[in-house]
Amino acid sequence: MLNLFKWEDSLSTGFEDVDLQHKKLISIIDDVYSCVTGPKESYSLSISKDLKRLTDYTQYHFSEEEALMRRNSFPRYEGHKKEHDGFIARVASQVKALGDGNPDDGYQLYRFLGSWLLAHIAKSDHEWASYISGKNKTGA
Ligand SMILES: [Fe+2]
Ligand SMILES: [Fe+2]
Repeated sequence: MLNLFKWEDSLSTGFEDVDLQHKKLISIIDDVYSCVTGPKESYSLSISKDLKRLTDYTQYHFSEEEALMRRNSFPRYEGHKKEHDGFIARVASQVKALGDGNPDDGYQLYRFLGSWLLAHIAKSDHEWASYISGKNKTGA
């Protein structure tokens, strides 16, 4: 089971608060990886704690990001919010399906979380970031 997801500078949106939140999300996903590859005895307890932290922090991050998009009248706000809502719903259903015990299932979930998040940052978050920074540059 490989550790797959790392922060890279190319993921930076140029918005410092958002970048810090993204780094924090990646570090929580890294904690999920540590649970999956850690001692089996503590697996169930530690993964449910980390998935709860991930869910809570993701909700916080999404609401901050959505407020920023609304303040700046980002035209694709609705579509972006749908991506966020879809992710929250998928995580909730997969966490339920995880049950209590098999680290291999946890690893599949870890891969989903990391690949979704990094792809979302690289593509969708960069869309609002370049829109908002471009707008602020022209003073519009
Ligand atoms: Fe984000
Ligand atoms: Fe986003």
